[in-house]
Amino acid sequence: MIIDGKAIADSIEQEISSKIAGEVFHRRPGLAVVLIGELAPSHAYVKMKKKGCDRVGINSYIYQFDENISEHDLLSTIQDLNGDEKIDGILVQLPLPDHILPHKIFASIDPGKDIDGFNPVNMGKILLGMSDGFCPCTPLGIKLLFEKLSIDLTGKNVTILGRSNIVGKPLAALLMQNSPGLNATVTLAHSKTKDLQAVCHRADVLVAAIGIPQFITREYIKQGAVVIDVGINRVDDPDAKTGYRLVGDVDFHSVFEKCSLITPVPKGVGPMTIASLLLNTWTSFRRRI
Ligand code: GUN
Repeated sequence: MIIDGKAIADSIEQEISSKIAGEVFHRRPGLAVVLIGELAPSHAYVKMKKKGCDRVGINSYIYQFDENISEHDLLSTIQDLNGDEKIDGILVQLPLPDHILPHKIFASIDPGKDIDGFNPVNMGKILLGMSDGFCPCTPLGIKLLFEKLSIDLTGKNVTILGRSNIVGKPLAALLMQNSPGLNATVTLAHSKTKDLQAVCHRADVLVAAIGIPQFITREYIKQGAVVIDVGINRVDDPDAKTGYRLVGDVDFHSVFEKCSLITPVPKGVGPMTIASLLLNTWTSFRRRI
């Protein structure tokens, strides 16, 4: 069966929207998005985030900068946003230009406004199982997918492919947590993992987050496994209006018949990431008002 990530995300957005509209607040939640440079995918993601904010009633503020912005100027913008009362969430869109160190930028964001969950304080809280921080949006979206689909991970073998700070590492920490519905036995595989096919084949749940188009084929999949595809890759397609189409890290057609559940690309994990961003911004707003 195909998991309809879009429908699940829509239901979460509906809940957020009702909460925002359902009470009288003296202001709306506010999300600041910092966008640097001209990368087309980054601009597309920010546009989708802004549209999501519009749908649920969050005010979004886009701060756009030339790719030559100095680290100093970026840090000073973040300081301003940290002190800005109308802003509940600060998101600095990745990737950043080479001359700017992401760690330094994320460490400068007020942890209470760090709705991306990339500040070391919030990363630490995920590892410690503390729920008063913020969980990065894609891992949170995947956890919510399991919850909404009543998939209990207790004792299951979950293999995560990819050790990024955005997805792999925080997701591993989240799913291994001693908490109802989680308690997974997590394997974090990466580019240096030996016999990757065998490691993936053990998985009851396989999460692909390596950024290689259609890398995972049926040989990697255990019969009846749940497959979560985090990849969003642009591949050339002369027949498409845009000249490209989006594919995941999983070869959908090869894998589909062998797994029990699979997220498509698009309309799988992507909308859940956006819904989680809106949820984190709402959570921050509730904590701050
Ligand atoms: N670029 C790709 N994914 C993300 C994300 O989750 N947050 C930010 N800030 N940038 C990204």
